[in-house]
Amino acid sequence: MADGRIAVIGTGYVGLTSGACLASLGHDVVCGDVDPAKVEALLQGRVPILEVGLDDLVVKGLADGNLNFVHGAKTAVKGAKYIFLCLPTPDGGDGRADLRIVHQVVAEIGPLLDSGAIVVTKSTVPVGTAHEITRTLGRDDVAIVSNPEFLQEGTAVRNFMTPDRVVVGSTDRAAAEAVAGLYDRLDAPKVITSAESSELIKYASNAFLAMKLSFINSIATLAEVVGADVAEIAHGMGFDERIGRKFLKAGPGWGGSCFPKDTKALATIALDHGVSFPLLKATTDANEEAQDRVADKVRDAAGGSLDGVPIALWGLTFKAGTDDLRDSPALEVAKRLALEGAELRGYDPTVSKDLPSRYDYPPITAYPDPYSAAEGAQVIVLLTEWPEFADVDLVEVAGRADGRVIIDARNVLDPQAVADAGFRLVPLGRPAG
Ligand code: UGA
Repeated sequence: MADGRIAVIGTGYVGLTSGACLASLGHDVVCGDVDPAKVEALLQGRVPILEVGLDDLVVKGLADGNLNFVHGAKTAVKGAKYIFLCLPTPDGGDGRADLRIVHQVVAEIGPLLDSGAIVVTKSTVPVGTAHEITRTLGRDDVAIVSNPEFLQEGTAVRNFMTPDRVVVGSTDRAAAEAVAGLYDRLDAPKVITSAESSELIKYASNAFLAMKLSFINSIATLAEVVGADVAEIAHGMGFDERIGRKFLKAGPGWGGSCFPKDTKALATIALDHGVSFPLLKATTDANEEAQDRVADKVRDAAGGSLDGVPIALWGLTFKAGTDDLRDSPALEVAKRLALEGAELRGYDPTVSKDLPSRYDYPPITAYPDPYSAAEGAQVIVLLTEWPEFADVDLVEVAGRADGRVIIDARNVLDPQAVADAGFRLVPLGRPAG
């Protein structure tokens, strides 16, 4: 194993997954967080997020003694050779990432770092951040390396352990190679670049995927109008290796904590540097249109007005396999319905409390199963692709719902089963039955 301890600062999705996975590769890892209650829970092997396989890695790392959790960045960095910054970089409100937390932590830990230590930015940070951190740090004996993550929520452990690539960028080649060496046990190509390229690879990757999704969602609309099927189109396109078959599933728009924020941030980076990049605005505009279109389908199904109309929402998270509601397309659609007076009844396997709770939600009453959410509903709209929706007993749903329309914005339901239960199916991107 690489000599030298790894400190991971921040135990959110990225930090906790990276820390636990690096420990499972045999490294000696200490994770620091500002929240003492979270640290205490993690020390007892309790993982606060839904991430397949993460609990096991945390428990194993604690038992093996090479994964530890401490309170505070200062404690975590003591004696560490590698300091991974996995800190929040939220949208600052103007599209630019807010780096205050990153700089605050760097200023705090700077004087405590050993000579020869390497600070690694893992969170998504704008181009030029490595250089800015160098200034904040004020140490010429400490290297700065960019090593962006490409983890998807819900499959983050698998993504970490079987990456498509490991990207490392720095002006200090030896430091970049040392960080790349931490991943030697993984079978993945290593891309060593400048810090700026590495920082931009992350934004470009996320924005490109968002663009791909906006593209297929616009094709879905066209398919509906001309009588084609978006799934067939995606299948036919995907055989072309230059296009690829992934990220071509049409839906109610894309969301989550990364794509919306990173697409906007890249647009702002381009603007700040005087570079015209119209595709990025088109990508986000098309996404809002995709959400509008699902809301339009619900209004149409309700007969033209949503005022006081009970609507069942099946799925609330931004995608299946996560309990994350941040920037969820399901909630974006819900907001549009709520603005027109709809009464929202929600079911999601990971949501047990009524919304709003933490974010900017429309009021949604949470139900424990899809049947009770459908009770008295005029329209049912499936918004998140939880596989369990394919197994719902639609005959029982028909006995509970008032209306006879189901809008399947993720094309999860079997059209025949929907018709057999007496519902009219409104699919997305293909002609209705
Ligand atoms: C995304 C990227 O995929 C990761 O590579 C990246 O590391 C991460 O952001 C990040 O920057 O941290 P994630 O936010 O977990 O990961 O979400 P995705 O799985 O990419 O899904 C994003 C959205 O696209 C979801 O709303 C999902 O439902 C939607 N989607 C995805 C589709 O509508 N269709 C598809 O075919 C795929």
